[in-house]
Amino acid sequence: MKIPLIKPDLPAFDEVRGPFEEILANGRITNFGRYVNQFETEAGAYLGARTVAISSGTMGLIFTLSGLGIAPGSKVILPSFTFVATAQAARYAGGVPLFAEIDDDLNISVEDLERLLDTHDDVGAVIAVHMYGLPAKAREIEAVVAKASAKRGRKIPLIFDAAHAFGASINGERIGGFGDAEVFSLSVTKLLVTVEGGLVSTRNEELIAKIRSMRNYGILSNYNAHFAGLNGKMSEFHAIVGVRNLARIEQLIAERQVRAKCFREKVARSTGFGLACWPTGVVHTFKDFTILVPDGEYGRRDRVMAFLGENGIETRAYFYPPVHEQAFFTQYADRPLPKTEILSRRVITLPFYTTISEEEMDYMTGVLARAEKEVQ
Ligand SMILES: Cc1ncc(COP(=O)(O)O)c(C=O)c1O
Repeated sequence: MKIPLIKPDLPAFDEVRGPFEEILANGRITNFGRYVNQFETEAGAYLGARTVAISSGTMGLIFTLSGLGIAPGSKVILPSFTFVATAQAARYAGGVPLFAEIDDDLNISVEDLERLLDTHDDVGAVIAVHMYGLPAKAREIEAVVAKASAKRGRKIPLIFDAAHAFGASINGERIGGFGDAEVFSLSVTKLLVTVEGGLVSTRNEELIAKIRSMRNYGILSNYNAHFAGLNGKMSEFHAIVGVRNLARIEQLIAERQVRAKCFREKVARSTGFGLACWPTGVVHTFKDFTILVPDGEYGRRDRVMAFLGENGIETRAYFYPPVHEQAFFTQYADRPLPKTEILSRRVITLPFYTTISEEEMDYMTGVLARAEKEVQ
């Protein structure tokens, strides 16, 4: 059996044929046409916030940090256990990454965040990540950042990197409305796919207006630039794919929840691999389905991955190496992060998608059980 890591959820050609023919005929293929507007309106209604669509999640993070006014050279607290884009965006927006530890749920440690806020005066922003679509402890993080802001007498912006978390929620509250802004990625491995793309979600109207200008070279009107800006536009083709996928997002999320529950049960029943927690009351998108090699056995991780590969199962170690160990970012690594260093060496991300079959999950579980016996 051959099982690829991902199979993106994409609309059938017939679902996009009409709008594609329309824009190819009238030439309105970009520059904030009807489909980008429709996508923003419908995504905003779903998330219960205002949204602005851009060309990628990374661009969304850069614009959001700049739009919230982080001072050049100020520290941006973020977990080291994330995709490197989170840290690249912080740096590109003029910040200096300050790496935080994670908890066993692989999300930022609230305790460590509090310690960093207590010991660094020059924090310009905080970015928390909803890892794999499991929401970070958003209310606790908001409280800790609000306390630090009050102590300093200035607001420290809080951004959630929600790249993995479109459709996730905490006790019925959708991801998209926490912190000062949440930033989604809409790239091919994500829940809501526009091919490439990003979406900033916030209740801050001023930020929305700024990002609208920033994605358009900083221009407000009449080719008059009022802000630093770039080209961060989403095309109409991308928005059409987004509109179609958004229409069935609830169904995609529901199917993933059922499959993830079933896969977790199989892995727990037949193997000794670990599973990160999935608290009750939380909708987890399972953007990735990640298991952990048993504690103390991380030296076997790469051999287990090779064994899975030999048996037709494509895997990744999301996210290894952690950012503070990556060549470009070691310059910002100011202390060891033991939990991050160990957990990032234990992760194996398995194939998982909305259409994964029970047979495929059984096959992977069987190969994992064999790996436990055969791979030293
Ligand atoms: C946690 C995280 N943040 C940011 C991004 C960047 O998103 P994009 O690829 O749309 O720029 C990704 C992309 O995979 C991600 O995983």
